[in-house]
Amino acid sequence: MTKKVLVSIAWPYANGDLHIGHLAGAYLPADIYGRYHRLAGNDVLMVSGSDTHGTPVTLQAEQEDISPEEVYGRYHERFLEAQQKIGISYSLFTHTDTPNHHQVAQDMFSQLREQGYLYTETQKQFYSEASERFLPDRYIEGTCPYCGYEEARGDQCDECGKLLDALELGDPRSKVDGSTPVLRETEHFFLDLAKLEPEVLAYLEDDKEDWRTNVIKFSLNYVKDGLRGRPITRDITWGIPVPLDAYESKRLYVWFEAVMGYLSASIEWAKLTGDPEAWKAWWYDPEALTLYFIGKDNIVFHTVIWPAELIGVERLYEDDPNKALNLPYDVPANEFMNLAGTQFSKSRGNMISILDLLARYDADAIRYYITVVMPETSDSDFYWDDFVQRNNSELVGVWGNLSHRVLSFTYKNFEAVPTPGELDDVDRELLRKIEAGFDAVGEQIAARHFRAGLNQALDLAREANRYLEIKAPWKQIKEDREAAATTLYVALQAINGLKLLFAPYLPFSAEKLHRTLGYEEPIFGEQVIQEVTDEGRTYNVLRYDDTAAAGAWAFETLPASRALQKPQPLFKKLDEKVIEEELARMEK
Ligand code: MF3
Ligand code: ZN
Repeated sequence: MTKKVLVSIAWPYANGDLHIGHLAGAYLPADIYGRYHRLAGNDVLMVSGSDTHGTPVTLQAEQEDISPEEVYGRYHERFLEAQQKIGISYSLFTHTDTPNHHQVAQDMFSQLREQGYLYTETQKQFYSEASERFLPDRYIEGTCPYCGYEEARGDQCDECGKLLDALELGDPRSKVDGSTPVLRETEHFFLDLAKLEPEVLAYLEDDKEDWRTNVIKFSLNYVKDGLRGRPITRDITWGIPVPLDAYESKRLYVWFEAVMGYLSASIEWAKLTGDPEAWKAWWYDPEALTLYFIGKDNIVFHTVIWPAELIGVERLYEDDPNKALNLPYDVPANEFMNLAGTQFSKSRGNMISILDLLARYDADAIRYYITVVMPETSDSDFYWDDFVQRNNSELVGVWGNLSHRVLSFTYKNFEAVPTPGELDDVDRELLRKIEAGFDAVGEQIAARHFRAGLNQALDLAREANRYLEIKAPWKQIKEDREAAATTLYVALQAINGLKLLFAPYLPFSAEKLHRTLGYEEPIFGEQVIQEVTDEGRTYNVLRYDDTAAAGAWAFETLPASRALQKPQPLFKKLDEKVIEEELARMEK
């Protein structure tokens, strides 16, 4: 039966380029998962967008002396380009400054308030008399109470890594004007997490056996420590207005509204498809699978805060009292990918941007390496020498070599899929193994074990290479043309199966191979950057044009005498000197 699968991906702050930490942490696993489900015939809705609010964006704007709109506009366009080129197949990648998102966030705020899950309270906050404004924690600098570092940020110390409250800093200074801020009272809305705690806990304690251990442990500990109300408004001018008179000077807190983007983007997607109610199948049908692909630093926002918001609004845009919004089915958070032992961080400048990598390497070569070292259960490292070696020995040496050898030899001698003689046990054994690969690889991907799935596909390619060594069609062709035809027929079937097993991981080369094997329709739908207009505002989004793929997750037989296209190598071997060049580039 066709399933509805919601693939939600963390919304990147639009204040700097996307880098391989984003790719390894969230986007690539999400895309592999989404593509697999499309091939399996399920309806996939895959959403995300640029996170345009919050201090990361306003600080960048102030540093450059431009508006927040200009900052997010620039990076949003670059996010679209990078993700289209690396092949993240969003149904919709939008942003949080759209009229649609503002509306959904304000509606959720109002609904939470009506249901009695918001309250107001007065707190003390730093205020700059020089600039006549309240200062968010990130705008304050001072001495870290833990390690004594004198330039600690108000929300976190970059030296010792501790999370801070700006009020704890010694000798606090405003980062904007250098003045010493004063404390002022201000009133804010709070999300009543204490009141929501029993339901959040019940949700986390129910049926989480296949969650990653660290994710569920961390979330449960967080709730069991006792949930307290969290302020969800701020005294700032950049952000979504609070939908109440007398709150003109305040905005919704970025984390409160950004997570709502999963829902608002689903609604926006439905409007764009011309069926505005279509999103409900993923949000109100309890059979739908809803997954959130994020990095480990975002866990509680997705396992505690977002579920609390969903529980609190009860229903949105739905009258049936028996219906409730779906809570996350799984949050398969990844750990971090490090570069030579340092964590990727835009703020510290230690990163390799996706666009930069794409300028020198093919998308599938990048996707391959990022998957084999994906930080699924512990932090992992990106090594340039490992990148080059695995590209050459595995991607090119095993899979690329197999498909290219078979295709060029067949093309040269037969030009089409040869007509086989009778298959023997060795032939049948290979085909049986490839066929079984559909269940094996599919199960790994469905269980969010992406590295294991790729390794199994690669092992099957090794198996096919061994088969070729045994049969040696380059010798058979000289003595017995029919025997060679049989071997190549079997090898082509194996390659045709492997093409699909690799397709969720390596969609570009799979598509290329698919055409060489004589198919006219592509495996996947098309992914386009498209201009949309909402309430008079025009912006660009990334869209994938269907919920399912045209291909199917099944071992299909290539008919004998099907014409083949002239084969091209699928992957490129990399020169060892790339390692030195890249290391030198990073030192700059
Ligand atoms: N913008 C945040 C970050 O880059 C992630 C937001 S995820 C969302 O860390 F769900 F809140 F949107
Ligand atoms: Zn410190």
